[in-house]
Amino acid sequence: MNKNIAVLKGDGIGPEVTDQALKVLGAIEKVFGHSFTYKEALIGAVAIDATGNPYPDATHEICQSSDAILFGAIGHPKYDNDPKAPVRPEQGLLKMRKTLGLFANIRPINTYKILANSSPLRADLVDGVDFVVFRELTGGIYFGEKGRKDNGDTAFDNCQYTKEEILRISKLAFEAAMKRNKRLTLVDKANVMETSRLWRETVKEFSAQYPEVTVDYMFVDNAAMKIIQNPRHFDVVLTENLFGDVLTDEASVITGSLGMLPSASVGSKVGLYEPIHGSYPEAAGKNIANPMAAILSAAMLLETSFGLSKEAAAIRQAVVHALEKGMVTSDIQKDSKHTTTEVGAFIADYIVANKSVLTVA
Ligand code: IPM
Ligand code: MN
Repeated sequence: MNKNIAVLKGDGIGPEVTDQALKVLGAIEKVFGHSFTYKEALIGAVAIDATGNPYPDATHEICQSSDAILFGAIGHPKYDNDPKAPVRPEQGLLKMRKTLGLFANIRPINTYKILANSSPLRADLVDGVDFVVFRELTGGIYFGEKGRKDNGDTAFDNCQYTKEEILRISKLAFEAAMKRNKRLTLVDKANVMETSRLWRETVKEFSAQYPEVTVDYMFVDNAAMKIIQNPRHFDVVLTENLFGDVLTDEASVITGSLGMLPSASVGSKVGLYEPIHGSYPEAAGKNIANPMAAILSAAMLLETSFGLSKEAAAIRQAVVHALEKGMVTSDIQKDSKHTTTEVGAFIADYIVANKSVLTVA
């Protein structure tokens, strides 16, 4: 298979971890006989430094003309404590999501046995947790009208949703539920917010098309508790933009390592894949960041955008092997001296060395 992949390494540890994902994709090309063409483009703080724009037109063109996008991280501390900064790296991400029509953010939350004791929750609570969050990504309060009035002393952010926006992500979430355990939880705040009432009404009506899926409805405050108290309750979680932002961060830490979780943003022709961790500026350039989330994002890309399930499974298997062999960075094992590049090379080499096993169905 020949495919074009846009590579947006971004800020902080983004370049280091993305390089490991590229290494692993190289191994996949070799072992499975594919050919991927990579085009790099700027986004985030590095793009602001180079062009003044966090999502330059040249980047948009490369993204749009690719078959998929591999993304590192965005954000730089010099903007975090400056609420008056005229341009911010995060604007690049929001603009990219909106202009590429990436309306669904998919974040699988699963645990690895080996990390059970790294979770802030008791091991018996996290054992077997496996759910996926479908977060709406291009609507709601993130994109509503916002501003100031009364000489700047009053601020507002408008939250708006259309039925259409709710339906298109609901369809993806229900389809996913059909392939999983056929349970779906809509998370909203329908006891207070009108947009949430529209979500609940729309999802209720739409769910009639999926009689096999058991649907429950949960207020977001309750869902926040439930993720801690009984995370195994969840199979597919469907929610709006801001609730999804908060809940996915909460859900990610119970797995024991932020450095392990990939995500996909889909909706239009081209999907975007990124680790859910941020740019982790304190570690940038030190070759200590965990590249596994970036590597698993590449696996998600192959599976979701290209339909290459066997290749994705090979990557996941190699990651589990690295975990089992203790080939991990220090976020997973405190005293580990293994570097970002070492972990990436180990996983890529494992795929090449186990060609005959990994390529059989
Ligand atoms: C995320 C991030 C972004 C968001 C920021 C960087 C704008 O937190 O992808 O979850 O809030 O959506
Ligand atoms: Mn977030």
